[in-house]
Amino acid sequence: MRHPSFPVGQRGARIGPTRAAAFFVAGLTLAACDMVTVPATTLAPKSDFGRVSYDIFLSIFWWDAGIFLVVSAVLVGIIFRFRERDPRPLPAQVRGNPKLELAWTVAPVVVLTLIAFPTVRAVFRTQTTPPPAALRVRVTGHQWWWEFEYPELGIRTATELHLPVGRPVGLELRSPDVIHSFWIPQLGGKRDTPPGKVNRIVLTPTTPGRYYGQCAEFCGASHANMRMLAVVEAPAEFDAWVARQRAPAATPADGSPAAAGLRAFTTGACVGCHTITGVSAGVVGPDLTHVGSRTTIAGGMLPNTPGTLTAWLADPPGVKPGSIMPDLHLSVADVRALTEYLATLR
Ligand code: CUA
Repeated sequence: MRHPSFPVGQRGARIGPTRAAAFFVAGLTLAACDMVTVPATTLAPKSDFGRVSYDIFLSIFWWDAGIFLVVSAVLVGIIFRFRERDPRPLPAQVRGNPKLELAWTVAPVVVLTLIAFPTVRAVFRTQTTPPPAALRVRVTGHQWWWEFEYPELGIRTATELHLPVGRPVGLELRSPDVIHSFWIPQLGGKRDTPPGKVNRIVLTPTTPGRYYGQCAEFCGASHANMRMLAVVEAPAEFDAWVARQRAPAATPADGSPAAAGLRAFTTGACVGCHTITGVSAGVVGPDLTHVGSRTTIAGGMLPNTPGTLTAWLADPPGVKPGSIMPDLHLSVADVRALTEYLATLR
């Protein structure tokens, strides 16, 4: 099943011969995927980190293509030259060839060293201390959703990472449970979130757009359902988003269906795990203060619609295997009221 919340492919992108060749190689390794609809690609970088990774990949690809051609030509030549013929004289019997052995040891060392230099340099450059003007974002990988906190802006959200284009970002990656791996392919390489340690990514998004990400380290039953979306936008749009996120949670009008939802929320188990500013302060699950403004629910697994929200609240583990949010056996009326209420939290 295609997940409707995560439309795939970057249609309309112009593909030159170089990128086409790279897509061909990627296609070989992703044999089951349609090349045009690879959900998230490293071959169309949208940040400085993504660009560096892509350039390294491309230069290695062309050098490797050259080596492949040379080795193949030599192999074909040897096959032809030493094919079986009549009469069959016994070939010269030799033992060892120090020059040859030295050559095939040194050559790979040289090749791997040439690959290692730019790779290691890029790894260090993308996890240094961010510049003072950088936007700080604390990224926490939970089983199975991503939390984003902007400490200087007083914002805590989930699954959708908003970033202003052109401004350096310092991501601090951490995890309270197991090792996850933060990966938004178009914004750069993956990096682990080891529990008890903070890893860093420093990058600058270069192009506005919506870029899909995925946990890239097996982390349990719903590893595949641990997704995210980076929304890179113009600074003014980002500021407007910040203002909306900092606004207090909506209060439903007395007697409205949403008011019944708020009551179900505060009298039920929801408050123990979720924060809604001014209502509750749970920290186990995602902050729901502005959940209605997000395009997905359940860690990016489902689009945020009344239908999916209803199904999700009615039976979380049935929708998302291993979901930490249990089936609370909510009544149909409570599920409906909660759906109404959460949708108002924009
Ligand atoms: Cu988190 Cu895989």
